[in-house]
Amino acid sequence: MTSFHETLRSLRVWDTTLPAFDPDTAPADPLPLFRQWFVAAARAGQAEPHTMSLATVDPDGLPDVRTLMLHDADERGWHFASHATSTKGRHLAAAPRAALGFYWPVQGRQVRVRGQVSTGTPQEADADLHARSTGALASALVGRQSEVLRSREELARASEAAWARAEAEPDAGSATWTVYVLEPREVEFFQGDERRRHVRLRYRRDGDAWVRELLWP
Ligand SMILES: Cc1cc2nc3c(=O)[nH]c(=O)nc-3n(C[C@H](O)[C@H](O)[C@H](O)COP(=O)(O)O)c2cc1C
Repeated sequence: MTSFHETLRSLRVWDTTLPAFDPDTAPADPLPLFRQWFVAAARAGQAEPHTMSLATVDPDGLPDVRTLMLHDADERGWHFASHATSTKGRHLAAAPRAALGFYWPVQGRQVRVRGQVSTGTPQEADADLHARSTGALASALVGRQSEVLRSREELARASEAAWARAEAEPDAGSATWTVYVLEPREVEFFQGDERRRHVRLRYRRDGDAWVRELLWP
């Protein structure tokens, strides 16, 4: 059997032909570039380009990170949704700042977003909950996210009840489901390059304007 270390050493990144990215052609604002890269990633066959890492900090300043779905990216910021009572929800209530990370290996691209996080209205949370699948609604109706689970049978029973409710009452709401919007202060676009001359373009908010800077890779 191949060992962990042999497998690890055999793996490569940026072994393929990667797209060129000319930062001189980048728009003045990061949002259109993000949308452009997102659509390009989906068209290039990148699996689940809408999954991202969300980093928060706990009250001791210890970072935490997990995978979430991107629900939107518009003039207000990058939108995601979760339970306010979850670990991340509690982190965001105490320290409403976060970072997002996207990695699209098919094109060797990474995008990082940092900034303040605000919560959407209960109406937005409701609309978000009902715009998606029955499974997504059932999952939200189970609730209790990040609490200690005493037994898997307890989850099975709660999930069974939540699926039945989601099917019978597609308008059912969740008191804790919350839309969060991260307003970007910094957005960095990274284009991997086979010769390791990676392009890093950082947008930094300066008053009402965006400052664009290249960073050493
Ligand atoms: C691909 C993928 C997508 C996910 N999307 C979400 C999401 O949109 N919202 C959410 O609350 N959890 C989502 N999760 C679960 C989170 O990663 C995490 O386990 C959960 O939110 C609890 O995190 P917390 O304890 O840090 O609050 C997703 C997990 C994966 C693997």
